[in-house]
Amino acid sequence: MQDASHIQKRFKITQHEDAYWCSSQGKMLALALGFDDQAAAGVAIAISELVSNVVKFAGEGLLTLTPLGDPRPGLEIRMSDSGPGIESFSDALRDGFSEGRFLSDSDLVGAPRRGLGAGLGAVSRFMHELNAHHPPGGGLVVVARIYL
Ligand SMILES: Nc1ncnc2c1ncn2[C@@H]1O[C@H](COP(=O)(O)OP(=O)(O)OP(=O)(O)O)[C@@H](O)[C@H]1O
Ligand SMILES: [Mg+2]
Repeated sequence: MQDASHIQKRFKITQHEDAYWCSSQGKMLALALGFDDQAAAGVAIAISELVSNVVKFAGEGLLTLTPLGDPRPGLEIRMSDSGPGIESFSDALRDGFSEGRFLSDSDLVGAPRRGLGAGLGAVSRFMHELNAHHPPGGGLVVVARIYL
């Protein structure tokens, strides 16, 4: 198999449909790096959730997939955008937290919503590390890592 450990991939994200191409590219890269099918599927889901968030909450963003070498081989998913950022990333990671608050039962019936607040929670379950920071120029950078 071709050595994929030096291959970095970058994608401009502008629409929800970008999730299909980017997650399949991420899955292929993960498999080429030696991840098993289950881990590669988790990578695909994580990418898809981060693409969805960027389109919904920031409009557009830049996705970078980077193989990680020694001392801890793996794969890094980095998504950066120029949107409003997240006030509390630890709250945002919790299932049911969406758009600045925890959803109640009445939110989940009928009312038009942009999400269930489960995307970042899913990313954190599939990946080994998930962090976010606000760079000086504004926006948000989310970094997820999974190790072999
Ligand atoms: N790139 C981003 N910029 C600004 N806010 C964000 C971004 N990504 C996530 N958030 C905030 O974090 C919250 C939680 O994100 P999460 O993906 O878990 O849920 P959701 O997108 O609301 O719903 P779901 O993913 O289940 O469709 C979002 O509702 C949003 O307020
Ligand atoms: Mg989401």
